Amino acid sequence: TSAFGYIDPHLEISDIDRRLFGGFVEHLGRHIYDGIHEPGHPTADADGFRADVIELVKELGVSTIRYPGGNFVSGYRWEDGVGPVAERPRRLDLAWHSTETNQVGLHEFARWLDKVGSDLMLAVNLGTRGTGEAIDLLEYANADADTDWTRRRAENGRDEPFGVTMWCLGNEMDGPWQLGHRNADDYGKLASRTAKAMRMLDPGVELVVCGSSSSGMPTFGSWERTVLEHTFDDVDFISCHSYYQEMGGNAQEFLASGVDMARFIESVVSIADAVAATKKSDKRIMISFDEWNVWYLHDDGGGQNDKPKETGWPVAPRLLEDQYHALDAVVFGDLLITLLQHADRVRSASLAQLVNVIAPIMTEPGGIAWRQTTFFPFSITSRLAGERVVRVPVTTGTFTSERFGEVASVNAVATVDDQGVSVFVVNRSTTDTADLRVDLAAIAAQFGRDLTIAESHLLHDDDLYAANSLEDPERVGVRPLDGARVADGALVASLPPVSWVAVRLN
Ligand code: AHR
Repeated sequence: TSAFGYIDPHLEISDIDRRLFGGFVEHLGRHIYDGIHEPGHPTADADGFRADVIELVKELGVSTIRYPGGNFVSGYRWEDGVGPVAERPRRLDLAWHSTETNQVGLHEFARWLDKVGSDLMLAVNLGTRGTGEAIDLLEYANADADTDWTRRRAENGRDEPFGVTMWCLGNEMDGPWQLGHRNADDYGKLASRTAKAMRMLDPGVELVVCGSSSSGMPTFGSWERTVLEHTFDDVDFISCHSYYQEMGGNAQEFLASGVDMARFIESVVSIADAVAATKKSDKRIMISFDEWNVWYLHDDGGGQNDKPKETGWPVAPRLLEDQYHALDAVVFGDLLITLLQHADRVRSASLAQLVNVIAPIMTEPGGIAWRQTTFFPFSITSRLAGERVVRVPVTTGTFTSERFGEVASVNAVATVDDQGVSVFVVNRSTTDTADLRVDLAAIAAQFGRDLTIAESHLLHDDDLYAANSLEDPERVGVRPLDGARVADGALVASLPPVSWVAVRLN
């Protein structure tokens, strides 16, 4: 199939908020324990953190990291995670049917973030707890005053406030599985009260109210409307969560996942702006897409893969350890393109999650850490994405999706900065090579010079289901895009079926 596009700086969508390249670390399975924290590991540092994992997280290029959950946060007592480690209580984690040892809490996690160079985004528990505990945590974390909480913080080794800017008002409160789940009215009122109290303590916080756990939720749409009617004046963001997987062996349908994400974002933006209109307000609520990924949540029988296999309440069981293949990574790359295409309203996003749990990075206890296939589109997009994002209109063929009708086979976006341009393209077709030609005349005119290729990356495997593993950790990677060139003022390249590419032009 042919794909003709062009890059024109006049088609700028917006600047990019680096928080779009955020991550998410939950106390879940082997994410913290035996993931980022393994004191006995040969690479462990003095704090028990694996240095090999720290290096990979740095290479991934994650900005803000959401913590400590997820479903976990809705039963979490943050005080359990501060103070002398030996005295911390063991607790049942009802969300993941595990035992939480609290060996890692706020202070340890903040130290780890300093090592990986990322910022903290905290979620408060609005499941089993309420406004009081939320402002206790905020005072402990952010207050610059002499109080009981700040003295305890200092005793626990931290004089200076943590200075956390972004806060989530609970997690997935629309989900019947959530501890303390409530209806939109009840949650909206609680979130509004809590937000107001948090702002009284720290006017500088940016607050995220819970949107829907997915656009497939029965309450999707009405949930957003009702919650925002209560909280519109109190919050800055509403969250979106979405996970994708191949169902019934239908790879072509799976490759339309980006369309689903785009519709989800555009629907939530419409609802938020409709609420703004009823309030006669110019304020624009932004989206924090704070959980997104491929996740094989449902087996083909409709079951779930999220309960420990062990009986009882295990510590750090193997949970949600999805192995990602080449096809997953191509869909994943398209999801990143989709987020960038909506960068004017998606001002924050968190890849869910980071290590071992539906993760780009996997670890073996006592052994190696390796990159999953999804690692590559994230690290390359995060590294190459410039300051501003530009729409790339593409004229190309289509395929028929059961859910979305005619879907474009090729999807692209570009970013621009002072040095040059980065182009991200996906070929969603399972059958056709895409002969790509992207006209660079308008952007070259802006730079006043011709652009040349500085680097190119192709993610594709003839075996769609090839994956990296402990036994074969480098089976799938990226390689330069053979034959990519600038000819007659256009980027010319050939994209095999089911492939993702990134090209940097300087
Ligand atoms: O990321 C895994 C889980 O997915 C999170 O805990 C929850 O918020 C969502 O349902």
